[in-house]
Amino acid sequence: MLIHFRKVSIYGIWRHTCRSFCVSPVTSSSRKGLVLGVYEGDKDEDGIHFTDAAASFDRSVSGKLTEMLLISGPPLKRGKSRVFYGLHQDFPSLAVVGLGKKGVGVCGKENWDSCRENIRVAVSMGCKQLQDLEVPHVEVDPCGDSQSAAEGAVLGLFEYDEFKSKKKIHVTPQLHGSADTQAWQKGVLYGEGQNLARSLMEAPANHVTPTVFADTIEQKFSPFSDRVVIHKRPKSWIESEQMGAFLSVSRGSEEPPVFLEMHYTGAPDSSKGPLVLVGKGVTFDSGGISLKPSSGMDAMRADMGGAASVCSTIVTAAALQLPINIIGITPLCENMPSGKATKPGDVVRAKNGKTIQVDNTDAEGRLILADALCYAHTFKPRALVNAATLTGAMNVALGSAATGVFTNSDWLWERLYKASVITGDRVWRMPLFQHYTRQVTESMLADLNNIGKYSGTAGACTAAAFLQEFVTANHWAHLDIAGVMTNKDEVPYLRKGMSGRPTRTLVEFAAGLASEP
Ligand code: BES
Ligand code: MG
Ligand code: ZN
Repeated sequence: MLIHFRKVSIYGIWRHTCRSFCVSPVTSSSRKGLVLGVYEGDKDEDGIHFTDAAASFDRSVSGKLTEMLLISGPPLKRGKSRVFYGLHQDFPSLAVVGLGKKGVGVCGKENWDSCRENIRVAVSMGCKQLQDLEVPHVEVDPCGDSQSAAEGAVLGLFEYDEFKSKKKIHVTPQLHGSADTQAWQKGVLYGEGQNLARSLMEAPANHVTPTVFADTIEQKFSPFSDRVVIHKRPKSWIESEQMGAFLSVSRGSEEPPVFLEMHYTGAPDSSKGPLVLVGKGVTFDSGGISLKPSSGMDAMRADMGGAASVCSTIVTAAALQLPINIIGITPLCENMPSGKATKPGDVVRAKNGKTIQVDNTDAEGRLILADALCYAHTFKPRALVNAATLTGAMNVALGSAATGVFTNSDWLWERLYKASVITGDRVWRMPLFQHYTRQVTESMLADLNNIGKYSGTAGACTAAAFLQEFVTANHWAHLDIAGVMTNKDEVPYLRKGMSGRPTRTLVEFAAGLASEP
C-alpha cells in the first residue's frame, strides 16, 4: 500500500494528513477524534497488542490501523502517541497512545498502581494532541479502566486561560463504547475536582481574595444545597472566637479575613463523628514584615492550595453523594506587610490560650491553622486531616514526588496511604518526634515560638510539631503540600502550573472511610 504524507492547511491549521484515506474536508464542528490504546509487547516480540476497543477499531477498518502503526515507526512506548488521519469516517483524527506493559499492578517501589497511572499518562497525552489539533469532540478508549481514562482525559485537557484573549478550544471527552460508564463518570468527577483546585490556585490573588474564594466555593455548592450548609464567618466572628493567631496574620492586609466552614451531610447516622478537613487559605503570602524575596513570589498566590483541595474534595464528595459526613474548615486571609502588620517578636494568643512568639511573620500558615485546628475539635472528629502549603523545607525534602504526611495515627496513615496508591497522587510518612517539639516550645517571651530553634534544619518537621501543640484528636494528620503545589513536567498528565494536588487522594480517602462498615 502506498501512503503519501503531505502537509495541508485546513482552516489555517497545518497538519500532516494521509492522502489515501482522506475523503472530504470536514467542518470544525463535526470533527471528531478518538484516542485508542496499545500495550507494549515483550522484548523481541513483534505484533501489536491492542486494547479491546483498538482491536475492534482495527477490524472495522480492515486492519489498516495495524498497517499504519507498523509502517509509521517503532512500537509505541508508554506515554508516547501517534496521530493518524482519515482512517475512519466517524473519527477523522485518531490518536494512538502507548499504555506500557499489560497486566502491571501496584509497584512496590513507586507506591502506586502502575496500570492506572499508565492509563492516565497515555490518555492525557492523546487528548492533548487532539486538543492541539482543535478537535472539539474526543472519544476515549477506556483502556480497561474507565475511571483512570476519564481522569487522564479531564486532567490532561485542563487549561487555565481565564485572562487570555485567545483561548484553547474546549474539548469534552467522552467514553468510547459502552464499557463501565459509571466508573467513567466517577473519573470525570475526580478529575474535575482536582481541576477546581487547580483553577482556584492558579487564579491571581487580586481576583481570588478571601471573600471571592468563599463566594466561589458557596457557588460551587449551590447544586447540593440539600446536602451542604456553608458559613462564611466574618472578622467579628473570628474575634469573638478569640482566634488571635489567625487575626495576627490577617491584620497587615486591607482584605478582610474569612473563616469558611462547610458541612456536607451524606450519612444519616452521625454517631461516628464527622471527617473534619482543614485547609490553609492564605490567598497571598508576601511573608509579611519578614518579606519574601521578590523572585518567584507570584507563586504565593497558590498558598491557599490546602483550602482549595479541601473545598474541592467536599464539592466532589457531594457530587459523588458519598455516604459520609464531612466538615471543611478554611481560614482565609492575606499575609501582607503594613503599618498594622504583626512584627517579629510580637506575642499573640491562640484560641486554646497558648501564647506564641512570632519570630518570623513568614511562618504564618501554622498560625492560622493553630486556631482552625482548635476550632475543628469542637466537632469531635472521627478523623482530622489538615492540608497546607506550609514549608519550603517540605519541597527540599521530597520535591513534588509526594505529599508529606505527619500523623499521630497508624490507622489514619494506612487509609491515606492506600488511597494514594490508587490515585497515584502519593503520600510519604514523616516524623513527629519530641525532638522537633522541643525546638518550638522554647521561647523567650511565650509558650511557643513560630519557627524552629535551629531554623534551617528540618523545617517541615518543626512546623508539624508546632501544629501538634493544637491537636488533641487521636486521629490527626497534617499534609504538607508545599512540594506538590506546582507541576513543571513531573506528572505528565498535569500541565505546567498549579497542581491541585492532593485532591483526588483526599476524595479517595473519604470514599474509603465512607465505605467502611
Ligand atoms: N507558604 C510558605 C511555604 C511555601 C514555600 C509554600 C514554597 C510553597 C512553596 C510558608 O508560609 C512559608 O513562608 N514558610 C517559611 C517558614 C520559615 C519562615 C520558617 C519557609 O518555608 O521558608
Ligand atoms: Mg509564609
Ligand atoms: Zn504561606
